[in-house]
Amino acid sequence: MENVALENRVFNPPAEITENANAKADIYELAQKDRIGFWDTQAKELVTWVEPYDKVLDDSKAPFYKWFVNGKLNLSYNCIDRHAKSDRRNKAAILYESEIGRQVCLTYGMLYREVNKFANALASLGVKKGDRVALYMPMIPEAAIAMLACTRIGAPHSLVFGGFSPESLRDRINDCQAKVLITSDGNFRRGKPFALKNNADKALEDAPSIEKCVVVKNAGNDVDFVEGRDVWYHELMAKAGSYYEPEVMDAEDMLFILYTSGTTGKPKGVVHTTGGYLVQTQATLKYVFDIKEDDVYWCTADIGWITGHSYVVYAPLALGATTFMYDGTIDYPAKDRLWDMAERYGVTKFYTAPTAIRTFMKWGTEFPKSHDLSAIKILGSVGEPINPEAWMWYREHIGGGQAPIMDTWWQTETGAFMCTPLPGITALKPGTATVPFPGIELDIVDENKNSADVGYLVVKSPWPSMLRTIYGDDDRYVETYWKRFGDFYFAGDGAKRDELGYIWVTGRVDDVLNVSGHRLGTAEVESALVECEEVAEAAVVGKKHDVKGEAVCAFVILKDGFEANSELIDKLRKHVGVKIGPIARPDDIIFTGGLPKTRSGKIMRRLLRDIAEGRAIGDVTTLADPGAMQEIASQYSGKED
Ligand code: WT7
Repeated sequence: MENVALENRVFNPPAEITENANAKADIYELAQKDRIGFWDTQAKELVTWVEPYDKVLDDSKAPFYKWFVNGKLNLSYNCIDRHAKSDRRNKAAILYESEIGRQVCLTYGMLYREVNKFANALASLGVKKGDRVALYMPMIPEAAIAMLACTRIGAPHSLVFGGFSPESLRDRINDCQAKVLITSDGNFRRGKPFALKNNADKALEDAPSIEKCVVVKNAGNDVDFVEGRDVWYHELMAKAGSYYEPEVMDAEDMLFILYTSGTTGKPKGVVHTTGGYLVQTQATLKYVFDIKEDDVYWCTADIGWITGHSYVVYAPLALGATTFMYDGTIDYPAKDRLWDMAERYGVTKFYTAPTAIRTFMKWGTEFPKSHDLSAIKILGSVGEPINPEAWMWYREHIGGGQAPIMDTWWQTETGAFMCTPLPGITALKPGTATVPFPGIELDIVDENKNSADVGYLVVKSPWPSMLRTIYGDDDRYVETYWKRFGDFYFAGDGAKRDELGYIWVTGRVDDVLNVSGHRLGTAEVESALVECEEVAEAAVVGKKHDVKGEAVCAFVILKDGFEANSELIDKLRKHVGVKIGPIARPDDIIFTGGLPKTRSGKIMRRLLRDIAEGRAIGDVTTLADPGAMQEIASQYSGKED
C-alpha cells in the first residue's frame, strides 16, 4: 500500500455504513433498468403531492423539459408542515450559532410558526404568487425562514450572496424586477459588525422595481431607514397572522432564480422549478449523506450559493433532518472554531469545500486534534476537484481515518448532485467524484460527441433538478448548454475516465491548457504542486507561448517557514515534470502570499492569466481579498523578461 500513488489507493466502504445504509445494494441496477421508473419511485416516496402528476417526464419540447407533469405541491409544506404535524414536531430543524456565540434552535414546530407568520407578513406587503423577492442576507435563521415563506406564497426568490457589492445586488434585482428586498442591518465578521443594510441602500438607489425593504435586526448596528420603503422584520412579525395556506404550485412553477457567472460579464439567472428540484435534492442527500433521524448535518456553504439552497435549507428540511448553520469566519476567535462547534453540536455529517480543507491543512493538525470529532461518520467535498493530498488529510484528521468522503460533482445549473459515490456502496479513490448518481446519465465525449476516456463532461438525458432556462433569456439557455453537443447537456467541465470507469473532473474547460497539442488540466498541475511539502496552495493558468501555444504558469503559496528561492523553483518544476510528464513543467513559478478568489472560494484564473500575460487587471469586485491581486501583480512585474 505504501508504494501506491495516493490517487490509485482504493478505500472500501465501511461495513457499519453498508449494513444500515439508505441506499440498498441494487440501487444502481434498478435505476439502470428503468431510469424514469427510478425517479417515479423517488417522487412518490419523498414528496407529498397535493395532486399527483400524470407523467414523469415530458421531453417533447427539448431542451425545455418538464418533470412530473401536472403534479401539484407546495415546497414549504414539504419542508415544514408535514414534519411539524408528526413526531418530529419537537425535533431541531435548524441549529444556528453566530460568530459571537449566539445560539438558536428552531424545532420543526417553531419553524412552522415563523414561516407561516412571515408568509403573512410578505403578503401584507403585496407579495403574491409569481412576484420575485430578492434576499441579501447573512447566514441567519431568518434567511431560511424568508426563503421558505417565499415558497409558501409561490413567489420565486433570488438570493444575492451577502459579500457581493451594491452594484452586483442592483443588477440582479433589476434583471428579475424584484418587488421586495429582504436584508439585515448586518452581521459579525471577526467580532465587528459588517453593515449589510448600507450596501442594500446603495443598490436600491437605482432599483425602481423594489417597493418595500424588510430589515432583520441582527448585529444591532445603526441603519438609515427610508420612510415608506423600509420596514423592520420584527415589527411585521408582531402583527402577522399565524397561518398562511400554502399556495398550490405546479411542479413546473418557478421556485427560485439564482445568478451565476457565465463566460460573459452579465450573470445568468439560473431558473429552477418546484417538483423535480424537490425530488432530486432529497434523493441525493438521503442516499449520499445517508441521512438518519439522529443526524446533525452541517454543510458549511453560504445560503447565497446553490449548495446553501439545496443542501443547507431545502433537502435537509424536506427530509426532516437537523441542519446546522454558522454565520462567521472560520478562524474566529481561533483556528479551531469549526471543530469546536462540530464537537459541541455532535456533528455527524460534514460537507465543505477543498479550498477550506487546504486552509485547515496549512494551519496544522493541532486544531482538529484538540476536539472530539468522533461523531463524524460521513464527509463531503464540493466546488472543485479535490487534490488527493487534501482528501487524505480530510479523511485522516477530520474523519478519524475512516469516514468516507463524498466528492460530489454538480453545478448551480444541475441543482443537485450528479456524480458522487454512495457511502455504503462505492469504493473510493482520493480525487475522483467516482460515478453518476443512480438515474443520471453522464458521459465523457470528444469534439465529435463520441464517448471517450478524456474529453468533455456531458449529461446525456434530462434530470429532475435541472435548470429550466436562464431568466428572461431562453436563447442564452439553448446557446450556453445545448448548442455544442445537441441533445447532450454540456457542463463546461473537462473529465477523464480511469480503469474502474470512474470520472475524474479535471476542471472547467476554459481552465484546460493545450501545451504543444497536449491536453493538461490546471487542476492536475496544481495537485502535483501541492504534493510538495513546501506548498500550501497553487493556481495554474496558461500563458500564450510562441512555440508551445500555451505555457504553464503557476502561482504558489508556500507554507509558513519555507523560503522562496531558485532551488525551490527547480524542485517544483522537476516534481511536476516527474509526476505528469515534462510537458506539464511550469515555465514560470511565482510565489505569492494570496490568490485572487471569488467570494465562493474559486480561484479567478482569468485575472491570473491577465497578470501572467502582462495585461491590465480586470474587475476585482467579486474578490474575497482584492489586495491579493495587487500583491501578485507587483511581484510578477519584477520577473518579466
Ligand atoms: C463547477 C460548478 C455545485 C456547487 C458548488 C459550485 C466545479 C463542483 C466539483 C467536484 C470537481 C467540481 C465544476 C463545476 N465543481 N463540484 N466535486 N469536483 N469539480 O457550483 O459555482 O455552479 O460551479 O464547480 O467545475 O462545473 P458552481
